[in-house]
Amino acid sequence: MSIHNSINTGKEITLTIDGKVCKSTFGKTIIDVARENDIYIPTMCYLTKVKPIASCRMCIVNVDGVDGNILSCQEKATDGAVVTTQNSKLYTERQNIMKLYNVNHPLECGVCDKSGECNLQNKTMEFGLEEQPFTTRDQHRPVENWGHVSYDPALCIMCERCVRVSTEITGDEALKLHFGGYSSSIVNTKIDKNYASLGEAAAVCPVGALVDTNFKYRSNAWELEKIPSSCPHCGGGCQMSYEVKHDTIYRVTNNFEFTSLCGAGRYGFDYANKNVVKDSKAFTKAVEAVKNANSILFAPQISNEEAYILQKIKELTGAKLISPEARAYQKFMRAYASVSGKQLYSGTLRGISKSTAIIIFGTKIYDDAPTVKYHINMASKWHRARVAYMHPLEDIEMKNIVTQFMKYEAGSEEAVSALLVETLLDGIDVPKDVKAFLDDLDIGNLSAESNIGEEELELLRKSLLKKSGFSLVVGSDLYAHPRAKQIAKILALVEKYTDFNVVCVPPAGNAMGVSLICELDDEVTGSTVGYNIEADFVLSALGNGDLDMPALNQQEGTLTTNDKRVVPMNVAQSYGGYVLNDIANALGLNAEYTIEYTKALPIDKGFRCVEFDTLPDYFDTIGMEHRGYILDEREVSIELALEEVAEFDGFDGAVVYMCNPKEQFSAFTNICEPLRTEAFLLGSSQFATATKLKDGESVSFVVDGVTFKRVFKIDTSMKGTIALNPTYDMELSTPLVSSYRFNKVEIQKIGKLI
Ligand code: SF4
Ligand code: SF4
Ligand code: FES
Repeated sequence: MSIHNSINTGKEITLTIDGKVCKSTFGKTIIDVARENDIYIPTMCYLTKVKPIASCRMCIVNVDGVDGNILSCQEKATDGAVVTTQNSKLYTERQNIMKLYNVNHPLECGVCDKSGECNLQNKTMEFGLEEQPFTTRDQHRPVENWGHVSYDPALCIMCERCVRVSTEITGDEALKLHFGGYSSSIVNTKIDKNYASLGEAAAVCPVGALVDTNFKYRSNAWELEKIPSSCPHCGGGCQMSYEVKHDTIYRVTNNFEFTSLCGAGRYGFDYANKNVVKDSKAFTKAVEAVKNANSILFAPQISNEEAYILQKIKELTGAKLISPEARAYQKFMRAYASVSGKQLYSGTLRGISKSTAIIIFGTKIYDDAPTVKYHINMASKWHRARVAYMHPLEDIEMKNIVTQFMKYEAGSEEAVSALLVETLLDGIDVPKDVKAFLDDLDIGNLSAESNIGEEELELLRKSLLKKSGFSLVVGSDLYAHPRAKQIAKILALVEKYTDFNVVCVPPAGNAMGVSLICELDDEVTGSTVGYNIEADFVLSALGNGDLDMPALNQQEGTLTTNDKRVVPMNVAQSYGGYVLNDIANALGLNAEYTIEYTKALPIDKGFRCVEFDTLPDYFDTIGMEHRGYILDEREVSIELALEEVAEFDGFDGAVVYMCNPKEQFSAFTNICEPLRTEAFLLGSSQFATATKLKDGESVSFVVDGVTFKRVFKIDTSMKGTIALNPTYDMELSTPLVSSYRFNKVEIQKIGKLI
C-alpha cells in the first residue's frame, strides 16, 4: 500500500538544486523534487505520508532572489528556481535548532529504546554537537502508560508527527498537542480504549518518546535482523518487516514514511507454529487422508502458492475444494465481471485517498479492512471528501469522517444496490437493457423495503454533483447474501458506466488470491481434510490438528492484496515439520520448494510468470511502491442478464451480525498475546429488551453449524436490535462461519460460563 500523497502529474518544470538540473512537475514541494533527484535535505518533522507539518525548520533552503530562508517541505518548487540546500549559514542555523532540541532532552542514548534509529541522535552527531550548551530547570514529567505504547514527555520534541498520523492516517484523532512552553506535551484523549493504532504513532516518532510497551528494554535495534514481508491478516497485505533475534520475532516495523499498519499487523506477529518436528507417522496418515478425501476444506489464511498446490491436488485426486468465504467472493466477482467486462474491480486504495466523495456500502469497514478505512480518512482530511456510509449499523468510530449515514434494513442490500445505482446513473447514457432495468425499478417500494428514503438519495445525489473524483467501497456483507449475484451485477453497472473508483474489499486473509487460483466448490461431501479448519483429518498451523503445518510467518510465498498486488512474504521463524508441498510431492507433484509455484500462478487470471526470488520489495525515494507486481487486467465476456429485484421478507426482532472487533480477524490473531480480547455478544439496551437479556447473562446460539457460547454485554454506544458477534475465537471452526453476516438466531439462556 502506498499512501504517498504528494505525487502530482501537473505541468513539467525545471529547476536547479545545488547546481543540479532537476526536472519535475508543478505542485511538488522543493523537498519532493530534491528527493526525486537524490539530494539530501535534513529534516526532523517531515513525514512524507502526511501534509507538511512545518514545525522543525531543519529543512530550510535558500532560493535565489528570495530573502531569508525557505521551508523546503512546505514551499512548492517553481520553474526556473535556483535552490541552495547547503551553505555555512544554513549549517549554523540547523546546528542551533539541534542545540535547542537538545535542551533538556537527556542524551542518555545507552538506555533509550530508540538508540540506533533515533533521528535526534543522528542529527546531533551530523551537526557535531558534543555537548548540551543550554539547559532549563528540570521538571518531573513521568512516563505515561497508554497500553500498547508508553509516552515519555521528557523525550518528546513536539514534532507533531504522532498527532498528524492519528488525525490524517488512522483518523482516530486520539492524540492532541498540549502547549505550555517547556512543559508542552502530547495528550492521549482516548486512553481508556487501549488504543492499538497508537502503534502507528510510535512508528513515526523520531525519538524515544513513544515506544511499544512490549518491546521496551528488550533489545537494541541494531541486534535485530529485518525480514521484509507482508501482513497476512486481512486482505490488505500491508508492507512490514519482522525484526528477529535468536529465532524470535521481537517486533514488527514498516516503511512508515509511505505505509501504515493497523494494530493487528503491528502486534499480531506471535502466531508461529513453534517447536514442530517431523512426525513421519502423522505425515503418512495425512498423505492417505488427502489422497482419499472427497472434500478438502481450507481457511483463507493461505499463500497463493499453497492455494495453487491445493488446486493441483484437486486436479490429481478429484477432491472438491471448499473455502466458503473465498467461494462467496469468487461467485460475487464472477457475476460482477459478467457486467463490467473486467475480471476484477478497477479501483485502488490510492484512488480512494484521492477522492472527494466516497460511498461505503455493506461492510463494517474499520473492523473489516483497517487500511481501507485509513484511505477513506485521508480523503476526508486532505480533500474534505463527503463520506456516505450505507449500513444497518451506525459505527460510532466512523462518526468523525462520515457526512451522511444511510441506515438500511439488514437483508435489503439488493434493494439498496438498485436504489444506489439508480441514483448514480441518473443522467448517464446507458444501453437500452440497462435503461429498461432502471426504468422498471419501483423506487417507492424499494425505499419502503430498505428504509432508505428518497430524500436521502436526493441528498446523496446533490452532494455528488458538486464534487469530482468518486469512490465506491463495497464489502463482505454482500458476498454471501442470498442475492449476491444480482447485487454484484447491479453494482457492476457503476464500474461500467461511471468514473467511480470501485473497490470490492475481499474478505479475510488471502481470499482474493484463493478465489483467482482455485476452482472452488459449494457442497462438502464424503470424507474431509481440513487445512486450518475443522474436518475429519486436520492439517493445522495452529498446532491443534492431526498434522502440523507452518503458519504464514514461517513460509515463503505470496499474497494477493486488496490493491490487486501480488506481494512476497518471507520466513520470520523457523519451522521443523512437514509442509503442504511435501504432501503434494508424495501424491505425485514435483517441486522442491513451495515457491517454485510462484511462477506457475495462473496467467489467465492476471498473475505473471516470475520467480519468487526476483519479486521486488521496496519503496523508492519518492514513495512509489515496488512490491511484487500488480495483477494484469483480464477481460471477461459480458452477459448482462439482470433480474428483477426480488421481494424481501425482512428480519423481524433481534438479529446477530458476525463481526470481529478491531485488530481481530482469525484464529491466528486470536493467539497473539498483545491483541488478546475477550469475545462477547455485544448489543444495545434495545436489543436486550427485545431478547429479554440482561447484561452479563450467558447465552448460546448456532450459526453455520457452529455453537457460540457467549456472555451478553450491553454497549451503550449501540442502537437498534442488531447485536455484534465475533468469530475470531472459535479456533478451527472460525472459517466455517461464512454465511450472510446478519442472522436471525435462536438465543438460549444458559448457565454461567466459566
Ligand atoms: S511523541 Fe514523538 S512523534 Fe509525538 S510529538 Fe513527541 S517526539 Fe514527535
Ligand atoms: S491486518 Fe490488514 S490492515 Fe492491518 S496491517 Fe495487516 S493487512 Fe494491513
Ligand atoms: S521538515 Fe520542514 S519544517 Fe520540519
